[in-house]
Amino acid sequence: MSEVRVAVLGAGGWMGRVHTMAFQTFPHFMGTDHGTARIVALVGSSPERAADLAGRAPGARILSDWREAVADPGVDLIDICLPDSLHHQVARAALLAGKHVYCEKPLADTAAEARELADLARERGLITRVAHGFVRNPVHDLAREIIESGEIGEIRLFKGCQHIDVLADPAAPFMWRADAALAPTGIVGDTGSHVFSFMHFLVGRVASLVADNMIVTPRRQREGGGDWAEVTNTDATHLMCRFENGAAGIVDFSRVATGRKFRQGYEIYGTKGSLVYDYDQVNRLRHYSGDDRPGRRGFREIDVGPEHPTYRAFLPLPNLALGYNETKIIEAAEVIRSITTGRPMWPDFEVGHHICQIVDACMDSARRRSWVDIDLH
Ligand SMILES: NC(=O)c1ccc[n+]([C@@H]2O[C@H](COP(=O)([O-])OP(=O)(O)OC[C@H]3O[C@@H](n4cnc5c(N)ncnc54)[C@H](O)[C@@H]3O)[C@@H](O)[C@H]2O)c1
Repeated sequence: MSEVRVAVLGAGGWMGRVHTMAFQTFPHFMGTDHGTARIVALVGSSPERAADLAGRAPGARILSDWREAVADPGVDLIDICLPDSLHHQVARAALLAGKHVYCEKPLADTAAEARELADLARERGLITRVAHGFVRNPVHDLAREIIESGEIGEIRLFKGCQHIDVLADPAAPFMWRADAALAPTGIVGDTGSHVFSFMHFLVGRVASLVADNMIVTPRRQREGGGDWAEVTNTDATHLMCRFENGAAGIVDFSRVATGRKFRQGYEIYGTKGSLVYDYDQVNRLRHYSGDDRPGRRGFREIDVGPEHPTYRAFLPLPNLALGYNETKIIEAAEVIRSITTGRPMWPDFEVGHHICQIVDACMDSARRRSWVDIDLH
């Protein structure tokens, strides 16, 4: 199969637009040797936007019910860009219908649901991908290469964060992200899952943790001066953890971090060196090496550039910066390549399951106010 027929669900929303663009765009940068994508269906919930959707993917069927896309024998890949609470239900139906599935994060509301999805995909030999795009910035491939080569020794500590202030203002309107019926784990599954993807990619699986979840603003008014609604999920979380390999972790994420429009970063301390990343310099890694001679030790700044294949695919010159949308284009190309070649990719639903285990553990720990072990078998 060199052309993969794709249905994008939630096509009128932010991620639906980004994914549609990414499938249409990746051949310009990543080539067509490993296949192309054809958008054959766009599913949206507002009929008034149907004409807009039709204009963005000529020839695609415009549907209002995701079940029609899942049942369509002319669809190979179901791409889920719907609110969180629909992910499990839709992914399950798609896998049962024999479709490959690319799903926005978080994969599911609970680890048990994610387990079911990963098992279904394995039993049926279907390709899966969870959309943790940030970590596909080539700067993180460089970080992993440095870690795997042993240059920073054994990892002792991972510190990570993701902060936004979209709900910092108590007057900011209520949105589906603050409703536990639509996003049961709040910021933990929403933003925490991205930090957990970095932890898995760079350090490994998490074995135990203790977490504190906070609702900072308990009630918000609906858009346009509507009625007041209870905020029923988490605004901010702080946690400590232990990884399977013995490293420690200190992590926090928040949607109420006043003034932080988007902050994401990590610090990784090893026995021989350290790595520091800050999204404010999106393609830059800071590397401290204990192998440097005394008197010359310090953090060096490495800007990922055309030496790295997924940077070179977009830009021939260093320091021109790859941003958010490019990482989603890389992601879409990897999904198509995996389907056409059968080559595994990261992060699949097995990884998505582990990330859901970490989310579950945060919810459980915060409820019980104690450390929680994660079953890694
Ligand atoms: N990976 C990332 O960086 C990232 C960033 C933002 C959002 N997300 C995830 O992507 C998903 C979508 O988020 P978004 O920001 O695009 O939200 P959004 O609100 O912009 O879009 C969701 C879309 O789904 C549509 N929709 C809702 N219910 C539907 C149904 N039953 N059938 C068909 N369409 C339906 C809505 O009309 C809307 O167009 C969420 O799971 C979110 O967590 C991921």
